[in-house]
Amino acid sequence: MDKLTRYSLETIWKTEVPVESIEAHAVICLVSEAEWITGHFPESWKQAITSVKERGLFNGSENQMFTIPVKQGNSAATLVLVGTGEHPMSAEELRNLAAKAAKASMQVSADQVVFAMPSSLVSYSATQDVATVAHALTEGFILGTYRRKNYKQNQKAYIGPGKVIFHQEKITIPNFQKEWEKGMSDGKAYAEGTIYARDITNLPGNMLVPEDLARAAEDLANKHGLEYSIMDEKKLEKKGMGGLFSVGKGSIHPPRMIVIKYQGKESWDGEIVGLVGKGITFDTGGISLKPRVGMEEMISDMGGAATVLGVLEALCITRPKRNVLVVIPTAENMPSGGAFKPGDVITTLSGRTVEILNTDAEGRVVLADGMTYAKELGATRLIDVATLTGAVVSALGDVATGAVSNDETFLNSFISASRRTGEKVWPLPAYPEFQEMLRSDVADLRNSTGRNAASSTAGLFIGTFADGMPWIHLDIAGTAFLTKERGVNPKGATGVMVRTIVEWILSDERVV
Ligand code: BES
Ligand code: MN
Ligand code: ZN
Repeated sequence: MDKLTRYSLETIWKTEVPVESIEAHAVICLVSEAEWITGHFPESWKQAITSVKERGLFNGSENQMFTIPVKQGNSAATLVLVGTGEHPMSAEELRNLAAKAAKASMQVSADQVVFAMPSSLVSYSATQDVATVAHALTEGFILGTYRRKNYKQNQKAYIGPGKVIFHQEKITIPNFQKEWEKGMSDGKAYAEGTIYARDITNLPGNMLVPEDLARAAEDLANKHGLEYSIMDEKKLEKKGMGGLFSVGKGSIHPPRMIVIKYQGKESWDGEIVGLVGKGITFDTGGISLKPRVGMEEMISDMGGAATVLGVLEALCITRPKRNVLVVIPTAENMPSGGAFKPGDVITTLSGRTVEILNTDAEGRVVLADGMTYAKELGATRLIDVATLTGAVVSALGDVATGAVSNDETFLNSFISASRRTGEKVWPLPAYPEFQEMLRSDVADLRNSTGRNAASSTAGLFIGTFADGMPWIHLDIAGTAFLTKERGVNPKGATGVMVRTIVEWILSDERVV
């Protein structure tokens, strides 16, 4: 899709050549406190290093960074000294450090970047696992290079580095290269899936209406040769998707039901993971109109849809032997003469009726149909991803994603995947008392329950449509879109949960 700024970063691995002989615009040098004192640096950097030492501008402590010009290959480069401190590095620390280095490389418009790693790096990492280190550094670097596309008339030509060369002079660990390359390619896949999600989430509401989201999904499916289907508003109404149809009917841009299948197993049976993403391309609140302040952030209300598409992108690179079904109900929530209203009673695909009390609680209404449809298409396990409630932002801020589930083992395996990716997930209770709050006098359910326990009740509304199938709901309202950058995440769309869902799908520990 030409609305997106995609570029591919080449990552390679080199050894047995002196680091200073590799042509580069930026050289990132990871140094611990001890290495800064006793380590050997290339002759051509000597002058620069000595002066930094003499002036005490750097000492290798954690998160410290200092840049100096050096001679590199046949030309000049910027040496980026990055301190690692003096303790084993966790994957999250490595990711954050690589993201920082990426930003420093971009400040000097580097096209080719060398990552100079001390030979102690892996033994000094928390897991001591080569692939984990390679994965974290590659992923962190690529995520750190991300910039939101802008629409200014005068664009800068530079969009980011084109090539990263990881370099380590001495290798003592057996199978190092093979392990490193595996980690590097996984890290790249996770990052590219995440970046896909960021790009599509950051698109303004006028550039991404439900038809555009459907086209983007179609492009993604065609690119990877995946089976897909898109239902237009007439077809989905006829099918009985009253939830999606009602939310979409207030807009001149009609709703769509998007389905894509990733078939990694020989046949479409056994475990099929259904990923259902909320695809509200813009949420005004509808007739229950939102306040004007901050409404622009509602371009990210299709963040759940973007996440599940990003997962597909990453799966098509890593190609696991699993079956995954992606379902995206997409609509624009607008107030108009044709819009659904408070007091309306609608019939969902499941046959359950819903009393609409607040048209701004639209996400759960479209997701209800998404869940039922995913089950109809064979899903045996469901994860829904949605920018669902303001209440989750009150509870967890923009730091953690809230989770509601009907299956503790499933949720625990997912949370352990999230610990490996560094994307925080926090469970919210699913008490039966909350389920009772969803009762309505005139329909099977009400779509809004007021302020109390709002994230749990919203999650449980969606969970009702799982009908007992193992299910996890991920509320990314706080984590999908940031007001300022943090770690590997930029300001704006983060593509949160792409990495964790992929990690969970690829993991062997997960329940089957
Ligand atoms: N898309 C919003 C939730 C949201 C809020 C996402 C803030 C990102 C940041 C959702 O559709 C919504 O409006 N939820 C309401 C539900 C309420 C009316 C029951 C909310 O949380 O206020
Ligand atoms: Mn809403
Ligand atoms: Zn919404």
